[in-house]
Amino acid sequence: MEAIEAIMTRRSVRKFEDRQIPDEVLEEIIRAGTYAPSALALQPWAFVVLQDQAFLNKVSDYCIPILLLHMKGAHDGLSDLFRSLLESKDYSIYYNAPTVIMIAGKTTNRFREIDCSLCAGNMMLAAHALGLGSCWVGSTDVAFDNEELMAGFSIPEGYSPVGTISFGYPAETPETGEKLAPKVAWVR
Ligand SMILES: Cc1cc2nc3c(=O)[nH]c(=O)nc-3n(C[C@H](O)[C@H](O)[C@H](O)COP(=O)(O)O)c2cc1C
Repeated sequence: MEAIEAIMTRRSVRKFEDRQIPDEVLEEIIRAGTYAPSALALQPWAFVVLQDQAFLNKVSDYCIPILLLHMKGAHDGLSDLFRSLLESKDYSIYYNAPTVIMIAGKTTNRFREIDCSLCAGNMMLAAHALGLGSCWVGSTDVAFDNEELMAGFSIPEGYSPVGTISFGYPAETPETGEKLAPKVAWVR
């Protein structure tokens, strides 16, 4: 798949087939992540591959009521749709994906969030090019200050959580959402 085609056709996938991704494919996705640019080429990322569904469900169950509280009164963007998802029975913030990858950044690196987000972007595009679906799950963020749950993420010493991404074989083909016209200023 050409780069531009991959960029234009990737969508967040929220329904996955009930089969695991081979380890070699996950390793390739992570390797693609590590080819992202990073400030001073410090590559301040670390990855945790999570396939323990009981643990992921526990994190999800913890996050849902907090997210609902945070979203009280919000109606912008996809807020209403997201709220109805959060309220639906058996909802998992990870969409029951077979694999979730936590990307953590070196705590002392001041560009860790930028670098890890670029890495995550590469990973989602690589997954798409390999026929997989993915969705960045920012919902996990509300658990970042829960020490007990964070211990379960097994983030290496000296690294802090940046984001979680669900991966799996897509069981849906989402439509492209509305893309706002970019605000562009030219100075020349
Ligand atoms: C930082 C970030 C956090 C996100 N968190 C969630 C989330 O918690 N749950 C979810 O379903 N989608 C989440 N998304 C996916 C966005 O909803 C999605 O990217 C957006 O609707 C645009 O759709 P597209 O990815 O198909 O282009 C997140 C995306 C980003 C970049």
